[in-house]
Amino acid sequence: MKKSVMFLIFAVLTLFMVNTAFAGTKCPQPRKTKKAPSGMFKKDKTASADAAAGKKIYDKTAKPMACKMCHGDKGDGNGKLGAALKPKPRNFTCAKTMKDIPPGQMFYIIKNGSKGTGMVAQKTLKDKDIWNVIKYIRTELMK
Ligand code: HEC
Repeated sequence: MKKSVMFLIFAVLTLFMVNTAFAGTKCPQPRKTKKAPSGMFKKDKTASADAAAGKKIYDKTAKPMACKMCHGDKGDGNGKLGAALKPKPRNFTCAKTMKDIPPGQMFYIIKNGSKGTGMVAQKTLKDKDIWNVIKYIRTELMK
């Protein structure tokens, strides 16, 4: 009897933890983000960009906070600060949502922010840095 009760508690706790861990990773993700102007939407300068330099920005150097704090180490939208946000940070690992988000759209939001959300304009990044971080997200995090 005792063992089965313990098992039940364990099972419920595990389910709860799994559920919380995936709370930020809905896929497809609801998305109302403003579309970039069409010239920008179509722009793509990732061919000559540097993914390794982009990773440093994503993991560490972006100000006021590294991208991973919200978007998560693996880009699943599950960073420490992401949980409290509404709407949730973009889940880059969700192909169903990301298929509609080309590099130029990412550039537009990283540069200007998404008004009314936790995604603020990344004012300290130069255009080159933005393309580098986009390259990192697209080559290493997106699935
Ligand atoms: C404080 C939390 C936070 C940080 C830090 C943050 N983001 Fe975001 N990001 C968000 C949220 C929230 C959204 C969702 C915005 C929306 O739904 O319009 C988002 C959306 C995005 C999108 C999707 C744009 C689209 O059109 O759907 C991209 C790309 C992005 N962020 C890149 C970055 C990069 C690169 C960094 C670091 C330089 C970064 N973010 C830092 C919270 C954050």
